[in-house]
Amino acid sequence: MPRVFEYSRLWPLLSRMDPERAHRLALVFWREVGRRPWLRRWVQRMAHAQDLPRDPVQVAGLAFPNRVGLAAGYDKDAYAWRGLAALGFGHIEVGTVTLMPQPGNPRPRLWRIPEHRALINRLGFPSKGAPLVARRLQGPRPPGLILGVNIGHNHGVPPKAVPEQYARLFLVFAPWADYLTVNVSCPNVPGYQQWQGKKEVMRLLVALRQAREAWRRLSGGNGRGLPIFVKLSPDLSPAQLDDTLEGIVRGGAEGIIATNTTTRRPGLDPRWQQVPGGLSGAPLRDLSTQFIADLHQRLQGRLPIIGVGGIMSPEDAQEKLQAGAQLVQVFTGLVYEGPALIPRLIRSLAAPKQPEALAQRRSSS
Ligand SMILES: Cc1cc2nc3c(=O)[nH]c(=O)nc-3n(C[C@H](O)[C@H](O)[C@H](O)COP(=O)(O)O)c2cc1C
Repeated sequence: MPRVFEYSRLWPLLSRMDPERAHRLALVFWREVGRRPWLRRWVQRMAHAQDLPRDPVQVAGLAFPNRVGLAAGYDKDAYAWRGLAALGFGHIEVGTVTLMPQPGNPRPRLWRIPEHRALINRLGFPSKGAPLVARRLQGPRPPGLILGVNIGHNHGVPPKAVPEQYARLFLVFAPWADYLTVNVSCPNVPGYQQWQGKKEVMRLLVALRQAREAWRRLSGGNGRGLPIFVKLSPDLSPAQLDDTLEGIVRGGAEGIIATNTTTRRPGLDPRWQQVPGGLSGAPLRDLSTQFIADLHQRLQGRLPIIGVGGIMSPEDAQEKLQAGAQLVQVFTGLVYEGPALIPRLIRSLAAPKQPEALAQRRSSS
């Protein structure tokens, strides 16, 4: 196999490009992988994604083929998910999708911090809009893959109309998605995180559950349950988290995704404090793991947790499971470590756990 195609050799090229352009290029590549079986086989060989172990796990009534998923934001418009699935992901979450198309924030809005294996983004939900994304979800699906759709409301929608937007998004995606995620934790759109409040999140969940009932009736009682997950920010204070959780449990969500990016800058050079946006990648890891542990303690098993934030290695993923997550998701790790990270994670999480090794790692960090 020509070594020039190894990710470590491609990275110097990619890292010199504007981050959004490089991402766009990666998506075009993955879309082609989804279209061409020979390219898919080649990528699988290069990334060691062949003959992955089966590691089925039941979460929120869904049968996930393994514990590793792609986090929201990587394939916002469902352009490339069929190709990305070649890496063995058990689930892929597309979006955030808004009902109507919108451009997001002005550029520049995405920064790399390679010395910390981190990204800062303030994209602000650029989206091609729900109808186009729903069309892209139709058609053949890689066997076993669970497909989630992360939904958000359009900029400038008055708060009174927001629950209605979520209900409409539900109805657009219900026939094509396996689960929906309500994204109330984006730090890049003013006023967005207010929807993490108890009353607010309940209002959204009630609207979504009503839409789910309507859809069940419309489909003659045959509609699947379609679980609803809520994605949270790691920046919630303990009191805010208690408040949100009450709303989430009473609102009847089926799971929690923790976490989104942080507005904090742990361990980063002060100049990054001036750059507004959400931080992801290695510096988010411990913040997110601690948040999951707190969440797990509060929930006492009432809802499943999907752990995301700074997973750059199999050990990081194991820590998320140890903290109480049932599944994990990755975004920034894929950017810095390359595609081979995904099969590595799947293999390591499917292998029998080694608590001593984990305990040792904890005490030495
Ligand atoms: C460029 C970028 C765009 C993102 N867009 C979204 C999004 O649209 N919706 C969402 O829920 N999360 C979004 N996220 C957050 C990720 O899904 C994930 O929660 C976060 O990056 C932490 O995981 P990581 O450290 O593995 O990247 C985005 C993250 C990045 C880096």
